[in-house]
Amino acid sequence: MCSGSWSEAAAGEDSRTVEGGSELCADATLLREDGLPPPRGDRAVGRGHTVPDHSQGVGMTGPVFPPWPATSPVRGRLRLRPVEMRDSAMARELSTDPYVSLTGSLPSCATECEAKAWVRRQQMRHPEGAGFSFAIAIRADDGAIGHCGLWLKELGEGRATAGYAIVPSRRNQGFASEALALLTEFAWTVPGLRRVALHIESWNVASLRTAENAGYVREGVLARHQMIGGEHRDMVLYAAIRQTGLAR
Ligand SMILES: CC(C)(COP(=O)(O)OP(=O)(O)OC[C@H]1O[C@@H](n2cnc3c(N)ncnc32)[C@H](O)[C@@H]1OP(=O)(O)O)[C@@H](O)C(=O)NCCC(=O)NCCS
Repeated sequence: MCSGSWSEAAAGEDSRTVEGGSELCADATLLREDGLPPPRGDRAVGRGHTVPDHSQGVGMTGPVFPPWPATSPVRGRLRLRPVEMRDSAMARELSTDPYVSLTGSLPSCATECEAKAWVRRQQMRHPEGAGFSFAIAIRADDGAIGHCGLWLKELGEGRATAGYAIVPSRRNQGFASEALALLTEFAWTVPGLRRVALHIESWNVASLRTAENAGYVREGVLARHQMIGGEHRDMVLYAAIRQTGLAR
């Protein structure tokens, strides 16, 4: 993703260390049969909790964790919607890209079971307070062609990171650029958020261009910033800054 990975690594979890093999389907009990997260009362951490604001001193609280949007963000050809069980085929195609499994929690060449476990993890991101995990869907037929995330671990400081990935068969058609622009537009609806950052490896020209197409500005290189594939890699830092309706 960006932030080192296309997906949810920025949310602070590497499922490869917490899940494995036959356990991948074991968390099915966390979810209802329709694949949706349990009702709020059953969640360990629910929506609407406050985020620690370290910039204002210990013990103070920052912005309220934002609710899931009432209407899906839409722009041009795309819609950002919740990741659903029917998206397991999209996840399996994503997993055929070796870089995707290096930088996120989706195992390489995922089985149907592993893909579904990944879907379930995405469905828990918002209830857990990690951020927004969206399927990138074609507006016309609602079919998923990729995934993106807005990760809010640092919302208390007004910062987020983002990541994105498009299935190999739908690349180079402008979808990532459009999706990142839409995700960023959505980010500015989050109260208190003023900066969204991306961390991209310098060889990843498609991702660098995606960032630039979506209006992100290159800020520099973070040397040996992120562990990917067993080594600390340099990451190019890009950021988008909220221009209007500035958060206080
Ligand atoms: C990076 C990624 C999301 C780009 O998706 P995409 O839908 O193909 O991107 P777009 O079609 O919007 O293209 C963006 C730009 O990259 C260029 N591009 C696309 N594929 C490319 C490639 N293989 N090599 C070089 N440039 C490429 C496009 O021409 C376009 O540049 P332009 O505006 O100058 O014409 C996709 O390659 C991917 O999912 N990669 C794996 C996950 C990943 O690396 N995510 C980002 C991590 S930071």
